[in-house]
Amino acid sequence: MITATVFNHAGGAGKTSLTRDVGHQLAQAGQRVLLIDLDPQANLTTWLGVRGVSLSSTVYRLATEGTPLPEPVQAHGLHLIPAQVDLALAETGMLGVPGSQLFLRQALEGVRGSYDVALIDSPPSLGQLAILGAVAADRLIVPIPTRAKGLDALPGLQKATALYRRLRPDLAVGLYVPTLYDARRSHDREVLEELRAHLSPLAEPIPERAAVWLDSSMAGEPVGVYAPNSPVFQDVQRLTREVAGVLGLGVRA
Ligand SMILES: Nc1ncnc2c1ncn2[C@@H]1O[C@H](COP(=O)(O)OP(=O)(O)O)[C@@H](O)[C@H]1O
Ligand SMILES: [Mg+2]
Repeated sequence: MITATVFNHAGGAGKTSLTRDVGHQLAQAGQRVLLIDLDPQANLTTWLGVRGVSLSSTVYRLATEGTPLPEPVQAHGLHLIPAQVDLALAETGMLGVPGSQLFLRQALEGVRGSYDVALIDSPPSLGQLAILGAVAADRLIVPIPTRAKGLDALPGLQKATALYRRLRPDLAVGLYVPTLYDARRSHDREVLEELRAHLSPLAEPIPERAAVWLDSSMAGEPVGVYAPNSPVFQDVQRLTREVAGVLGLGVRA
């Protein structure tokens, strides 16, 4: 099992969308996929159509007490450890517990034989839950909007990952993914050039195409279910191939 955490402390970078749809495509390609929602906003959970989640189904006790992973729920062929808003309490609950930031890493050891890949969706912060997810990873996948705000987030990202490496010296970024790209805007083209100059490996940019992303989220369905004939689905398939490549998953997604 390889664990990848989709990480960027900036909100609106495309973390949750990437986690849901790359996860779904990897499962469609026959991989055994575990998704973990670490964001108390629970977008990943809701956008997979999962509702009515209790705190005991989330990573709350794992994060604050070091218990094993809870039983996952199933959605669209995926296993999901869901989130809900009270998971935010883990931010303070973890603080007084030495070693708590490594509890998810340790709990994943217990399911190593059950999955090929675990994909973790991070909250838009650099708090305890974000650290819990980052240091559980073998590889980080970092979506970056092709906007000024995407560039602005880079120094913070680099500082955070350097600090996390003190806990996980082998932690590396597996792939940077330019997101929300509009090739008609010179601003986006300039930012993409900057990303290409400074970041590696860098995926092909994911075009901004609002309708399908927003509507599939509202419908609680991955793009491959909601709009399999759309250009967005082709974007998802291409990104999945790139992610599978850097994670060493031998799939034809
Ligand atoms: N390629 C895209 N084009 C247009 N909108 C997108 C795209 N990817 C994601 N979105 C939308 O942008 C918003 C932010 O994406 P999200 O995945 O929630 O980012 P994060 O998890 O980093 O906050 C969501 O409303 C999502 O539906
Ligand atoms: Mg999110």
